[in-house]
Amino acid sequence: MKIAIVGGTGKEGSGLALRFARAGETITIGSRDAARAADVAEQLNQQIRTGTGAIQISGADNVEACRSAEIVILTIPFENHAAMLKLLKPALHAGQILVDATVPLASSIGGRATRMIGVWQGSAAEQAAELAPEGVCVVAAFHNTSAEVLHGDDAVDCDVIVCSDDKAAAEKIRALARKIPGVRALDGGKLENSRIVEQITALLVGFNIRDKGHSGIRITGLPQGAYEK
Ligand SMILES: NC(=O)c1ccc[n+]([C@@H]2O[C@H](COP(=O)([O-])OP(=O)(O)OC[C@H]3O[C@@H](n4cnc5c(N)ncnc54)[C@H](OP(=O)(O)O)[C@@H]3O)[C@@H](O)[C@H]2O)c1
Repeated sequence: MKIAIVGGTGKEGSGLALRFARAGETITIGSRDAARAADVAEQLNQQIRTGTGAIQISGADNVEACRSAEIVILTIPFENHAAMLKLLKPALHAGQILVDATVPLASSIGGRATRMIGVWQGSAAEQAAELAPEGVCVVAAFHNTSAEVLHGDDAVDCDVIVCSDDKAAAEKIRALARKIPGVRALDGGKLENSRIVEQITALLVGFNIRDKGHSGIRITGLPQGAYEK
């Protein structure tokens, strides 16, 4: 699959790029600056090369990165979420899946990273759904997956809760998430549930500050076999 990661030069986007490229996906890192995207792509390729020899990550400006992608993953600070979606609009088209991992943390407007900003639509992902062109399927995922952990070599000890109003798109993204070793990708129901999942991240940031960790989440008590792993 061709995957574009908008804001992919950052901590979360580059971590996802590494994990998906290791799983054999073709990634384009997006940035406001194409040269910076190319530099980061090269650095990530170096890391992958030491493992498998593959070169699977390229760089482009955010708009170019989106044009031919089947899946576009949004990993930018919330402060520019709406403006970025407006900028990307001409490059997005029906049939694409837009995965939003953005968390509206108050830190993106100078507040605390343990608090959330109120979003009129309910969540960043619901704002994305309002701003995306018709026919683009919006999926919320990866909000609780620590960038630090993604950049490591170990399995990722975290559930990824996937929310969408489009069941087929959600299943595709759950299948993608499962390619990250250790991840169990859960059906989080409708896109409106992204309000809850985004807010969990603020709680996790608090744990990380108090306990100096890189926390994630696991949901217990689900029937065995409900999820592949
Ligand atoms: N870090 C985590 O562990 C984590 C976990 C889950 C979810 N998230 C969420 O994922 C998103 C990205 O997090 P991050 O830690 O990767 O953030 P980050 O490293 O601070 O930023 C990601 C990228 O966004 C671009 N960017 C920065 N300011 C921008 C602006 N004003 N307008 C447009 N692009 C801008 C930058 O790329 P260019 O300068 O190259 O354009 C930057 O490399 C956030 O919403 C965060 O809440 C983060």
